[in-house]
Amino acid sequence: MTRAALRCTALLLVACGGVATPAPTPTPATMPGPAPLQRVGDAASRNGECVACHDEIAAQWQDSLHRAAYTSPDFQSALRSEPLPFCRGCHAPEADPRRPEPELAALGVACVSCHLPQGDAVLSARPADAPRAAPHPVLRDPAFAAADACANCHEFTFPDRRPVPEYMQTTVREHRASTQPDRSCADCHMPRVATNDGAAVRSHAFSASRDLAWMREAFTVTAQRPAPDRVELSLDLHEDRVGHAFPTGDLLRRLVVSVAVTGVARRTAPQRRYLARHWKHARPGKGPGVRTLDHDDRLGVGEDPRVLTFTLDPADAALPVEWRVRYERVEAFVGPGEDGARVVGGLDLFEGTLPSE
Ligand code: HEC
Ligand code: HEC
Ligand code: HEC
Ligand code: HEC
Ligand code: HEC
Repeated sequence: MTRAALRCTALLLVACGGVATPAPTPTPATMPGPAPLQRVGDAASRNGECVACHDEIAAQWQDSLHRAAYTSPDFQSALRSEPLPFCRGCHAPEADPRRPEPELAALGVACVSCHLPQGDAVLSARPADAPRAAPHPVLRDPAFAAADACANCHEFTFPDRRPVPEYMQTTVREHRASTQPDRSCADCHMPRVATNDGAAVRSHAFSASRDLAWMREAFTVTAQRPAPDRVELSLDLHEDRVGHAFPTGDLLRRLVVSVAVTGVARRTAPQRRYLARHWKHARPGKGPGVRTLDHDDRLGVGEDPRVLTFTLDPADAALPVEWRVRYERVEAFVGPGEDGARVVGGLDLFEGTLPSE
């Protein structure tokens, strides 16, 4: 009898000897999300323990936007114009959304927010064959390796009551509709990096919008002048690198595509186009008001390259043209159109000059 057959017999004996009960279906683990969380113990000291043992991952997290989700000047400034418990729920999930305790709020999206959404066992996406066992209970769920780990925070609707709910962020459905639905968010956003002891561990830096090199790899731009008074910019998203629209996430992010004729005698005013979710106010004039989506022309995954055409005054046909593609983080609009915007940050992604024809 082979070893495998022996094992089978042993298993059979156990099964026959006992009462036949179906294998228990594992209860799916609670995935991380906004407050209120079912927290066991004190979040700050629990988080301090994770940080103390996992020092390399902790250093990446310390510099991340997850860590700064509540304390960052950008969030604090936005919160002042909309001071809602709703906002604190995601940006400070460890604190009471109504009366946030400063120490707990300052944790932002912490180790415990993602890894201890419920109960006392640390949520892990790894299979049980880890080379080194953890000195703490571990709850394994493959869903934590999928978009589920991010979905409760990275996709949500406006908090106001409206007949048909509308989304403030749609990264998860964009991901599902993309050509990369089988690659998890972590696959791109948590690349494996080498640690001091030689292991390759998922990065917790989560850098995206502040990382010029990373943002520039998302697409390429080619510029041409098919006629003396016409400029064409073609933006080609790299589908294998982006798993959702560009920009995704916060509702007021945008790409600004601009062209300007250079030279003293120019007749054409500089021109700008915005690739973004374009919002309109359902009840204009009433405070920050209710925003509804007018149209969405962000770069989508799976689309042909986007071609933008700009027409120049024929008198400028002989002049060189400077073009630029910039990514902007807008905090608020300060006029009727989209030109008047309070821009709190951004990156110059691509620029160039087209010689005269
Ligand atoms: C006393 C030190 C210590 C503390 C405290 C600690 N860890 Fe760990 N943890 C380890 C060691 C050692 C391992 C196994 C080696 C490894 O994977 O780094 C581990 C493994 C893990 C794993 C992978 C588990 C697996 O087997 O798949 C995760 C996730 C994790 N820890 C997260 C946390 C979080 C979150 C906290 C805080 C709630 C925490 N750890 C607290 C030492 C610690
Ligand atoms: C925004 C959510 C989030 C935060 C915050 C977070 N983690 Fe993780 N962590 C994850 C996810 C998701 C994975 C599993 C990714 C995968 O394997 O697909 C993971 C994996 C790990 C692992 C296993 C790494 C590996 O590749 O084997 C350890 C250890 C860990 N985290 C510790 C921590 C510690 C310590 C902190 C705080 C300093 C922390 N995490 C903060 C989401 C988070
Ligand atoms: C508890 C809620 C929560 C969970 C869970 C969560 N995030 Fe986040 N994430 C946030 C918040 C809030 C921010 C914005 C922080 C800021 O800039 O104020 C953020 C920021 C980010 C950023 C930085 C975006 C930028 O503009 O550069 C990335 C990337 C990111 N998250 C990816 C992930 C991924 C991938 C997962 C799942 C593995 C995940 N997050 C899970 C709440 C969460
Ligand atoms: C195939 C790789 C890939 C996958 C999968 C992916 N992303 Fe990204 N993500 C990127 C790249 C590249 C950027 C930078 C370009 C951009 O902003 O779209 C980015 C940017 C972001 C940003 C910054 C916001 C901004 O301004 O655009 C957030 C937040 C984010 N991703 C969250 C997620 C979440 C959540 C998931 C899973 C539902 C996910 N990503 C899946 C590659 C990926
Ligand atoms: C369900 C979770 C959730 C809620 C509720 C939420 N946010 Fe966020 N917020 C996020 C995530 C996730 C990001 C990261 C997306 C990105 O980087 O584009 C983010 C990004 C931001 C940013 C950009 C931060 C940066 O560093 O660039 C600001 C500002 C912001 N949120 C303000 C608010 C305000 C104000 C509210 C309440 C009206 C709010 N958020 C409600 C999840 C949430």
